[in-house]
Amino acid sequence: MLSVALLAGFTAVAATTPVYLDDTKPIEERVEDVLKRMTLEEKVAVCHAQSKFSSQGVKRLGIPEVWMTDGPHGIRPEVKWDKWNQAGWTNDSCVAFPALTCLAATWDRNLSMLYGTSIGEEARYRKKTVLLGPGVNIYRTPLNGRNFEYMGEDPYLAAQMVVPYVKGVQSNGVATCVKHYALNNQEMNRHTTNVIVDDRTLYEIYLPAFKAAVLEGKTWTIMASYNLYKNQHVCTNQYLLNDILKGEWKFDGAVVSDWGGVHETDQAITNGMDMEFGSWTDGLANGVSNAYDNYYLANPYLDALKSGKASEEVLNDKVRRVLRLIFRTEMNRNRPWGSFCSDEHYRAARAIGADGIVLLQNKNNVLPIDIATTKKILVVGENAIKMMTVGGGSSSLKVQREISPLDGIREFVGSKAEVQYVRGYVGDTSGEYNGVVTGQNLKDDRSADELIAEAVEAARNADYVIFVGGLNKSEHQDCEDSDRTGLELPYAQDRVIEALAAVNKRMVVVNLSGNAVAMPWVKKVPAILQAWFIGSEAGHSIADVIFGVVNPSGKLPMTFPVKLSDSPAHANGDANQYPGVERNDGSRRLDEKYTEGIYVGYRWFDTKNIAPLFAFGHGLSYTTFKYGKVTADKTSMTADGEITLSVDVTNTGSRKGAEVVQLYITDKKCSVDRPAKELKGFEKVSLNPGETATVKFTIKSDALSFFDADAHKWVAEPGVFTARIAAAADDVRTSVDFELK
Ligand code: BGC
Repeated sequence: MLSVALLAGFTAVAATTPVYLDDTKPIEERVEDVLKRMTLEEKVAVCHAQSKFSSQGVKRLGIPEVWMTDGPHGIRPEVKWDKWNQAGWTNDSCVAFPALTCLAATWDRNLSMLYGTSIGEEARYRKKTVLLGPGVNIYRTPLNGRNFEYMGEDPYLAAQMVVPYVKGVQSNGVATCVKHYALNNQEMNRHTTNVIVDDRTLYEIYLPAFKAAVLEGKTWTIMASYNLYKNQHVCTNQYLLNDILKGEWKFDGAVVSDWGGVHETDQAITNGMDMEFGSWTDGLANGVSNAYDNYYLANPYLDALKSGKASEEVLNDKVRRVLRLIFRTEMNRNRPWGSFCSDEHYRAARAIGADGIVLLQNKNNVLPIDIATTKKILVVGENAIKMMTVGGGSSSLKVQREISPLDGIREFVGSKAEVQYVRGYVGDTSGEYNGVVTGQNLKDDRSADELIAEAVEAARNADYVIFVGGLNKSEHQDCEDSDRTGLELPYAQDRVIEALAAVNKRMVVVNLSGNAVAMPWVKKVPAILQAWFIGSEAGHSIADVIFGVVNPSGKLPMTFPVKLSDSPAHANGDANQYPGVERNDGSRRLDEKYTEGIYVGYRWFDTKNIAPLFAFGHGLSYTTFKYGKVTADKTSMTADGEITLSVDVTNTGSRKGAEVVQLYITDKKCSVDRPAKELKGFEKVSLNPGETATVKFTIKSDALSFFDADAHKWVAEPGVFTARIAAAADDVRTSVDFELK
C-alpha cells in the first residue's frame, strides 16, 4: 500500500513539469521560471567563478555549472580547481589549430566556419560550456605580444572572418566568448593603460569586428578586457558594456571578465559585468586561495543587496544573461556530442594552415621545390624543430601531436633526397607552460660564430636551403603579458640568413610569427614564406606549400613595415602614443593616446604614401592571375540602393590556384578626412589553368560611410566614389567611379 501511495505521489509531481524543464517553451519563459525560484544567494552565486574556469549553476534546481576553456586555437588542458598547475589528466591532449592570424590570412569564410565547427566539437567533447575565443583586437602595433591570437589590422576582414567562427563553434551548443572587448591592443601594462581614442576611430576601427560577432555571429558571451577606457576598467565600463554593447547592439548574452579584470564591486554591479572570473583576491589583499566567496561580485555584492545598496533588478538582469547562456548550451538537449582529436580535425587544421601560409616573395620561381630534381635540402633554424604549441600565455596547449617543420619536410621528402638539419642559431630553449612540458632538449652551447660556420658549410653544396626562424612563444616575443621590444628578428637571425644567402642562391626563409618582422635581407633571399604558428599540423602544412602539393593562396591580414617608425602607432616615436605615459597622481595608471586615429595599418601607409615591406592583402601564388576591367551595373546609386561591381579574373599560369580578389573604396571628396582607400569586400576564387571567373561585389551605402562622431551615426555623403579591385593594398588592378546621389 505504501509503495502505491508513493507511486501516486510521484506521478502527481511528475505531471507538473516545471516550465524551465520544458523544452517546448521559449528560452525567455524558462529563464523567468528559474529566476523566480532562485534565492538571492543563488542568484549572486552564478555571477562569479567557483574555480579557475567554472562557475556555479543552481544545484537545488538541477541547473548545470558553466565550464570555460581557452581558446582560441585548441582546448586548454585541465588545470587544478584553484591553481594554474596541471590537473594531470591523461585524456586532455588536443588538436592545435592554426593561430588566428593564420586563419585570417586565408581570407576564406568557409575555412573560418570549418575552424569554428571543428574547435567547437573539441570543446563540446571536453564538456565545455564556453570557449574563450576568438580574439578580434585590431592589430595596431607589430609589437603587441598577442597579435598572433587576433585577426589582423582591418575591421572589415576581422568582422567577416569572426562571424563564421562564432557560428561554427555555437552550432555545437558551445558558446564563444569573443575577446578582448575592447581597445586591448597591447600587452605591455595591460591592466593599467587607459586608452584615449576618439569616437570615430573607436567605431570605425576597433568595434566593427566585435559588433559583427554580436549582431551577425550572435555570440552568447563576450570577454571584457583588462585595459581602461575613459578611465574605467573595461570589465566595469559604463560606456563600452552598458551603452554600446548592451545598449546600442542589444547584446542579450553574458559579459565575462578577463581573468582578474574586475577591481571593485560598485562598478561591477552597475556597469554591465555579469560573470567575474580570475580575481585572485579576497577583496582586500592579493594572494588568497579559494577566494571565490570574496570576489567583488560574491559576498560584497550580497552584502550590498541585503543592505539595500544594490537593486535586485540589476542582479536579475545579470542572472537572466547567465541563465540564457546555460539554456543555450548545457540545457540544450539537442546539441551534438562533439568529437576530439579526430582525423577530420587534423585535416581541417592542415588545410587551414596551408591556405593561410603567405608566399611573400618568390624570385626566380625558387618555389615550389621539385623533389624529382633535388638531391639535398638543408634545413636551418631553431623554429624548424621547436614546439610552438607550448607557451605564449593562455592560448598554450597540450597537444596530442605537433608536426614540426623539419618533420613535415622529412616526411614529404622520404628517401627521394637527403634532408640535413643544422641549428643555425639558439633562441629560447625552454619548453614549459603551466606545467606542460615539451620534453624537447634544445640545449646547444656553441657560439653564434660556430653555428653560422656550420650552417654555411652545409649550405654550400645543398640544392636548397630552407631557413625556418622567426619569433617564438617566449616573453617579449609572440606572448601574452609582454610586448616585443623591436621589429627585428631575435637571436641574431639576420646574421644567419645573410650568411646563408651569400653562399646559396636557392634559399627559402620560412618565418614563423604572429607579427610582422623586419627583413633587412629581403633583397638577398629569393623566396619568403610567412607561416605563422600553425599548431599540430604545422610541418605538414608547410611542406604542402614548399613542395607544391598546395598552391599558396594566403594574403597578409596586416602590413609588414620596413621599419618600426613607418607604422602608425610609432610614427611620432612618442610614448604618449605607445606604450603610454604614467601619470603623476600615484594611481600607476598610464594614458595612451591613439593619435593616429583611423589611420591604422594600410590606411596609414596608403594615405601617407609610405611603401611597406609587404602590403596588407599581399600574397603570391605559384600561378598567375590576370584581372579584367571592373564594371559597375550602374553609374550611380541612392542611399538606400546598391551597386554591383563585376570583374573577370583569369588563371593565366599552369597550376590550379586560388586568388583573393579585394575591393577597396575611396571617397573622392568628403567633409572629413578619409583614408586613401578601405577594404569593403573580398572573394576567394579557385581557378584551373586558363579558367576565368566573374567576381561580383554588391555594396550598399554602409560601404561608403564614415562614423560622424557629433551626430553619433554612420553617414554616407553624396558624391563620387572609386571602387578599386586589387590583389593587395599596394596592387590595384582596375578601378571604376560611381556616384552616390
Ligand atoms: C587572458 C584571456 C584568457 C584568460 C583565461 C587571461 O589572462 O587574457 O584571454 O582567456 O586569461 O585563461
